[in-house]
Amino acid sequence: MADAVLREDVGRTAVLTINRPDKLNALNEQVRVDMMEHLGAIETDDSIGVVVITGAGEKSFIAGADIGEFEGRSPFDQRDAMASPRVFDVMSNFPKPVIAMINGFCLGGGCELASSCDIRVASEKARFGQPEINLGLIPGGGGTQRLPRLIGLGQTMRLVLSGDMIGADEAARIGLVEMTFPPEELREKTLELADRIGSKSPLTLKVAKQAVRAAWTTSVDDGVNYERDLFCLCFSSEDKEEGVAAFLGKRKAQWKGR
Ligand code: COA
Repeated sequence: MADAVLREDVGRTAVLTINRPDKLNALNEQVRVDMMEHLGAIETDDSIGVVVITGAGEKSFIAGADIGEFEGRSPFDQRDAMASPRVFDVMSNFPKPVIAMINGFCLGGGCELASSCDIRVASEKARFGQPEINLGLIPGGGGTQRLPRLIGLGQTMRLVLSGDMIGADEAARIGLVEMTFPPEELREKTLELADRIGSKSPLTLKVAKQAVRAAWTTSVDDGVNYERDLFCLCFSSEDKEEGVAAFLGKRKAQWKGR
């Protein structure tokens, strides 16, 4: 049986490809287990600075949870299947930057997985939606909570209540994706972005993510205080000394991650 998730390292970027193209990369148990394994290994791998998540084939990023697994399931079975830690939460709290490279259908759990990433880069042909309503379900991977924080309550209501799909242009307009590219340029442009991010200090990237993520859960006043504390904490790092010295010395910084 083919690996459900493939890992390819390109420089300091690990590309994780969900590998069920025949099923439009629907998220089944094997994908979830493999993703967790890969993320666990990448978290402690100092050679990797950035993670890119994508789907195999040209048609789909992820077409949602594997609907076949829902048939005949009791609430208790489903609860077990959704036991923590969940891939959406692990990804959302991952210490290294995670970019969703959305190459096609980005539906249901796929849209929720993308919403858990730090940055979303999409093919101009990608399609987005939360179609669970058509199955008598609601989003179960954080879609009702993370999506409103990205695109607002009204746009989330529209997607979740209608189950409608939208194109990449509209997704970009409402803030569901940050960048779009023609399909043939998607990989190159995404890897360029990952490479630029991966060339920064891994320590500072981690702190920067932590500060921005705090905006999801804190008041502006608390968040600004937290940011100031993290900013001052950076003054204890060798990389801050190096970054400042490199700028003043008109040379390229050599990060140590300390
Ligand atoms: N779970 C399980 N299988 C899925 C799937 C999913 N979420 N999405 C697609 N597939 C499977 C199809 O059953 C089909 O398998 P088959 O060839 O063995 O019959 C294969 O992937 C190709 O999909 P198909 O529906 O034939 O492609 P399409 O181009 O006609 O339609 C979609 C594409 C995305 C519109 C359609 O597949 C779809 O609506 N998928 C479900 C999306 C969804 O509701 N996601 C939320 C789940 S909670």
